[in-house]
Amino acid sequence: MRVAVTGGTGFVGSHLVPTLLASGHEIRVIGRGTRSTTLPSGLAPTFGDVLTGAGLAEAFQDADVVVNLVAVIRNQGLQTFESVNAQGTAHVVEAAQRAGVRRLVQLSAIGADPDPTFPYLFSKWQGEQWIRGSGLEWVVLRSSVIFGERDGFFSLLAKAISLPAPFLVVPGDGTAIFQPIAAEDVARCLRAAVEDEDRIGQIYEVGGPEHLTLEQITMLVAAATGKEWFGIARRRPLHLDPRLLRPGAIVMDKIMPNPLVTPQQLDMLVKPNITARDAVETGFGFEPSRLAPNLGYLRKQKRWPFTLLDQGNARMKPPPAI
Ligand SMILES: NC(=O)c1ccc[n+]([C@@H]2O[C@H](COP(=O)([O-])OP(=O)(O)OC[C@H]3O[C@@H](n4cnc5c(N)ncnc54)[C@H](OP(=O)(O)O)[C@@H]3O)[C@@H](O)[C@H]2O)c1
Repeated sequence: MRVAVTGGTGFVGSHLVPTLLASGHEIRVIGRGTRSTTLPSGLAPTFGDVLTGAGLAEAFQDADVVVNLVAVIRNQGLQTFESVNAQGTAHVVEAAQRAGVRRLVQLSAIGADPDPTFPYLFSKWQGEQWIRGSGLEWVVLRSSVIFGERDGFFSLLAKAISLPAPFLVVPGDGTAIFQPIAAEDVARCLRAAVEDEDRIGQIYEVGGPEHLTLEQITMLVAAATGKEWFGIARRRPLHLDPRLLRPGAIVMDKIMPNPLVTPQQLDMLVKPNITARDAVETGFGFEPSRLAPNLGYLRKQKRWPFTLLDQGNARMKPPPAI
């Protein structure tokens, strides 16, 4: 099949594209060309911007399926939850309709909710509504937090852990709960959504095999990275009220390309980010990977203080003129 992947230059895209290629699909990756990519050789991104819709219909020409991976997890300039996650999806749908695409696959998030209390989750829900109302074949996957090379969440946590402190800061009481899933496993589920006829019109929640608290995740990441502080290898968690962390999060959000935490992320910790432990096995017929044995990639991260200079997934160059 010919598959166009919007947001294919991002973290999940870097795992999905090789998975689709290995299954014999013809891939077109669409992005704004604002970041360095790790695309397989011979594959260059085609320009498309979901903010305006520019380039999308042209990029979708001849595609059978569009997988939409575009989203932002913080508001930054023109790139907002509303303009990218909600309205941007509307532009993807419109362009897919114009180009005669048959199927849309949308990667959404567990907790996507019509209640606007959490703006990110509300915008993901709005994006889903555009997909579901498209009149095209559609499949929606809602994922818990995803780990793997080039990820955001776990790499930032490892970065925070590398800061020189005798303890590990855990926001709140540490009981915020997640179901980390490997990027390769998300890619397998997305491939099934691209290929299988019987998945049309379905919403799937996906997560790994474990429900883990933020404190458990922090300790696992600390153990995996082996970061110590003046010889203290096993640092204890220090629980801090998110209200105390909020001013720092606001400042980081304003000045850092890749803040360790944003105010919205602190707010969302009260909402469980989980589904059934066997969701992937039931929905997709395979056992997803556990977190702890698969965190080796975090050891490649730079050490403090170079971690703070690392731009991670942030923008590398300005968008090209249209
Ligand atoms: N990572 C997770 O833990 C997680 C968990 C649940 C759900 N999800 C969902 O999974 C999807 C992929 O997430 P990710 O972690 O791979 O994100 P990511 O690494 O930040 O990638 C986002 C992609 O969107 C593209 N993009 C951003 N603004 C754009 C615009 N205006 N026009 C066109 N493309 C634009 C970026 O490319 P350029 O900057 O090059 O344009 C990039 O390829 C998102 O929908 C996210 O909500 C992720």
